[in-house]
Amino acid sequence: MTMPTQVTIGPRHVAIIMDGNGRWAQSRGRPRLLGHRAGARRVREIVAACPDLGVEYVTVFAFSTENWKRTQSEVSGLMSLFRRYIQTEANSLLEQGTRVRFIGDRLRLDAKLRGLMDMIEALTAHNTRVNLTIALNYGGRDEVARATKRLARDVASGRLDPEAITDETLPRYLDTHVLPDPDLVIRTSGEARISNFLLWQSAYAEYEFVDTLWPDFTRERFEEVLSRFGTRERRYGGMTA
Ligand code: FPP
Repeated sequence: MTMPTQVTIGPRHVAIIMDGNGRWAQSRGRPRLLGHRAGARRVREIVAACPDLGVEYVTVFAFSTENWKRTQSEVSGLMSLFRRYIQTEANSLLEQGTRVRFIGDRLRLDAKLRGLMDMIEALTAHNTRVNLTIALNYGGRDEVARATKRLARDVASGRLDPEAITDETLPRYLDTHVLPDPDLVIRTSGEARISNFLLWQSAYAEYEFVDTLWPDFTRERFEEVLSRFGTRERRYGGMTA
């Protein structure tokens, strides 16, 4: 008797809440920023692994609308890390076939960082191998509020008929309007919270909360999480055949 072949369909879009950088550094008696630097190296490793693993979209939560409450030195350290990351990674991301996008409210970011963000988005705009989206000054509620403002303007100007609004209307105004919804959301470091990340988009996503701190989240850990996803059934509220 032949056994049926088990077909495993992996997630197409993985979103990651990269938590635990601070604890990783503190447990080594080092400054928190060192943990963020180690975290940035993991971003590189995970993005590079995506094409082999069938992941077409990876979205990482780099800085939330709430993160401004951290100390001034941590905030400015993170901002300079983002600038440096874009400058130093641009060429390899381009050569790797990665298309880079940003979501979040750019207005509060400094002009130099915004310029670099525009630069890398334009530079990689023709890449198709993997889509890296970096959430920077991002909050799910803030995104919905900004989207609603744009939608309301279209209603006010007569471009949008309020009676024609369905659950497919708002997503067209979200920062993520060109992305598919995430299939899997991973949060590292043992916290089981979604922290305002992709609130609308994750309505049907699977969640995986793993204990590993982000700077220790290797490609092997990533593969383990992806293989668990393959064994689950997704029903989207319906019935299985
Ligand atoms: C959460 O860990 C992590 C952040 C607020 C920053 C995430 C940033 C990176 C991984 C660096 C670079 C990313 C890119 C895309 C270049 P935490 O500081 O809250 O950790 P803790 O909970 O242990 O304090």
